[in-house]
Amino acid sequence: TVNGVPARRGDCPVEPDTDTVAFRGETVVYRPYTYVMLHKPDGVVSATEDRLAGEPTVLDLLPPELTRLRPGLFPCGRLDKHTTGLMLLTNNGKLAHRLLSPARHVDKTYAFTVKFPLSAEDVAALESGVSLRNADGGTDCVTALCRVELTDCTGRGAAGRITLHEGKYHQIKRMMEARHNQITSLARLTFGPLVLDSALAPGAWRLLTDAETAALEHLPMRPTFPRLPGIRKNINKSLFEKEKHYGRPFSDHTLVRSSAQICPPCRRHAGNRAL
Ligand code: URA
Repeated sequence: TVNGVPARRGDCPVEPDTDTVAFRGETVVYRPYTYVMLHKPDGVVSATEDRLAGEPTVLDLLPPELTRLRPGLFPCGRLDKHTTGLMLLTNNGKLAHRLLSPARHVDKTYAFTVKFPLSAEDVAALESGVSLRNADGGTDCVTALCRVELTDCTGRGAAGRITLHEGKYHQIKRMMEARHNQITSLARLTFGPLVLDSALAPGAWRLLTDAETAALEHLPMRPTFPRLPGIRKNINKSLFEKEKHYGRPFSDHTLVRSSAQICPPCRRHAGNRAL
């Protein structure tokens, strides 16, 4: 029905802001945009079309009914082919642009594993900013402040979480390379206010809830990690200065620095100076 009157024609004109549309007694809410949360599996590219023959894309994981009924869906940002985890797809170009804008400083948290141990010194360097190399071996750029939390470094490698608010090409891989280490797995857990739904198996998707959509659409302009005032981009700030600036321990790796039980390999690796 449209405003309580049975609509007998499929092309009945409707004014979404003023007309009330119902189907079998339930009000139908008009949504101009679609937001999909996808758990990107390993081996799928996050381009909209399959440029390399035979490579499945994230759009191939959505049912044809969805892409037909909600045209124009595209991935908001990219994950490397072997990175798994939270991927947002939408047909709201303006919002995607806002979410990806460097000025917006949208946080993204990834779970990682690396091949070699990470010392407290490595963590401090990653957090302060490391120089990324370009293909010619020159310095491409210096990364902005970020947060690194080690969850395990008792084996040969290490595992942890890293929160970035920028998105340079292969950023985390290149950051680990800058510390002579190597990413062995990478999974995105959060994107701005969105948290990967643990009920979504790799390859599964769902529409965002109203609360998630509202959180995305009302994302604050304020950067969450302001650059330190008056500090040049490529200067490595000492942990002490950062902690003074933020008025709190800068990151959870301070636990590693202060507790020999938590990370004995790091302690050994970093030496007494870092403790
Ligand atoms: N950093 C990377 O190196 N790869 C990704 O997919 C995302 C962030």
